[in-house]
Amino acid sequence: MSARRPLVAGNWKMHKTVGEALGLVNSLLALLPGEPTEPLETEIVVCPPFTALWPCAQRLAHDARVRLGAQDVFWETEGAYTGAVSPRMLADAGCAYVIVGHSERRAIFRETDEEAARKAAAAAKEGLHVIFCVGETLEERDADRTREVVARQLAALWAALPAPPGGGAAPGLSVAYEPVWAIGTGRAARPEDAAEVAGWIRESAAAAWGRAAAEALRVLYGGSVSPENAAPFLQRPELDGALVGGKSLDARAFAAIVAAARDDELQGRAARA
Ligand code: PGA
Repeated sequence: MSARRPLVAGNWKMHKTVGEALGLVNSLLALLPGEPTEPLETEIVVCPPFTALWPCAQRLAHDARVRLGAQDVFWETEGAYTGAVSPRMLADAGCAYVIVGHSERRAIFRETDEEAARKAAAAAKEGLHVIFCVGETLEERDADRTREVVARQLAALWAALPAPPGGGAAPGLSVAYEPVWAIGTGRAARPEDAAEVAGWIRESAAAAWGRAAAEALRVLYGGSVSPENAAPFLQRPELDGALVGGKSLDARAFAAIVAAARDDELQGRAARA
């Protein structure tokens, strides 16, 4: 059995004022199973905009089921970097996670592979769990370049991050495979295609860090995940969870996606045995 714990993360993008964010957190907590004192088997993370992080952290301090993440970070600790937020500031504001290299950062803000990798390394050094996004555009997919693009994005990451000690697990990293053409389009990838890319991601990790570290690495799928389509992704043994955009803004839909992950666990994740 794999020891990989499922992770479902919600990327709220540029949505929600402070009041709205607290409302969404409260609605989500009311819908989750279990007790606030006990973490669920599935790790659940919400990633509000920077302005809502601290108030959400204060609310989530009283609930062990949901953890807090940011959507981006800069690599320096402090200094004259107008508009930037450092890993230390995120940790101080209550974040345990950070999304790095999202395709919107890469496409709209022109972030390069090297910059994304540098951010990931700085965040990991601060003790934040990095959810590192990779994925191809439609053009790249049509040109049959998915594997090459993902390999290039990961090569920058492996070059920037120190290998886990003793060839063991990399506890502070998950990789999210998010095909750009599937993000926000309502057109998710096929679970079998996402699973194939997850296999490539794990091969790349094995080549960089060795087999044990690769087997411990969580690979998520992201791109138009919904309550209707989540289960087939979460049931693939190659996939360890989901990064959810649009549907994470709806507490009921996000809770239903989390429930799909839990059902999968209850079924014993048979394919992993
Ligand atoms: P989506 O976004 O679920 O709205 O497609 C996913 C993401 O951008 O992480």
